[in-house]
Amino acid sequence: MHTPTIVRMSNVTRVYKQSSFEVRALDDLSLEVQSGEFTALTGPSGSGKTTALNLIGALDVPTSGTVFVDDKDLGQMSQHARSELRKRRIGFVFQAYNLIPVLTVFENAELVLRLQGVPSATRKERVMALLDDVGLSGLHGRRPNEISGGQQQRVAIVRAIASEPAVTLADEPTANLDSTTAEQLLDIMQKLNEERGVTFIFSTHDPRVMARAKRTIHLVDGRAQQASP
Ligand SMILES: Nc1ncnc2c1ncn2[C@@H]1O[C@H](COP(=O)(O)OP(=O)(O)OP(=O)(O)O)[C@@H](O)[C@H]1O
Ligand SMILES: [Mg+2]
Repeated sequence: MHTPTIVRMSNVTRVYKQSSFEVRALDDLSLEVQSGEFTALTGPSGSGKTTALNLIGALDVPTSGTVFVDDKDLGQMSQHARSELRKRRIGFVFQAYNLIPVLTVFENAELVLRLQGVPSATRKERVMALLDDVGLSGLHGRRPNEISGGQQQRVAIVRAIASEPAVTLADEPTANLDSTTAEQLLDIMQKLNEERGVTFIFSTHDPRVMARAKRTIHLVDGRAQQASP
């Protein structure tokens, strides 16, 4: 089967420069992620996981080296083109869910589709099917503060994947969840990966979450230590 490369980082260095110090957050990092992967980015605090995800998410550009997402060189794109790529091709899931409190579950879940100008009937059909898939049917009319943290994160996942992005990035998606709820969230992510082909790259500290990944990229001091198939 043809599995296109979605992410290609080559010799990426990211140095954060402050007036009094410099931090080399990524140091000559190279990695590739193919469509359909379920890959964890692991490593101690400060090893560069968030920095790497921000680069893949076109939220940041490297100090040196190249980042290709969906065959486009992020460093060669205008800011506008980068933000379009981000909007169309990349899904984001955050540690703190980041749902909008005044919107319902359904309205939160359809937000990216709405920003993309997808017609209302299509939005409804896709989002209701996904809410059902992640076990939230019946909760679409509630507000975020009327559902649990694990349920909020499932809404955030639907929001991220509803537009069928090329890759969905999740920076410590289970960090605010207890271990049982974290396992349930991973079950759902895994199901979406296997049944809908959603490509996930997620960072984590949690050994139980790591164990569920199909591949692990371990960062130490901004370098990849090992990559197991
Ligand atoms: N905006 C910034 N300005 C300066 N230094 C930064 C900035 N963001 C991150 N760093 C530094 O870059 C290094 C990598 O940080 P990063 O946030 O990528 O690590 P991480 O692996 O995500 O850590 P954690 O597990 O704690 O989330 C750290 O030394 C951090 O202090
Ligand atoms: Mg981080």
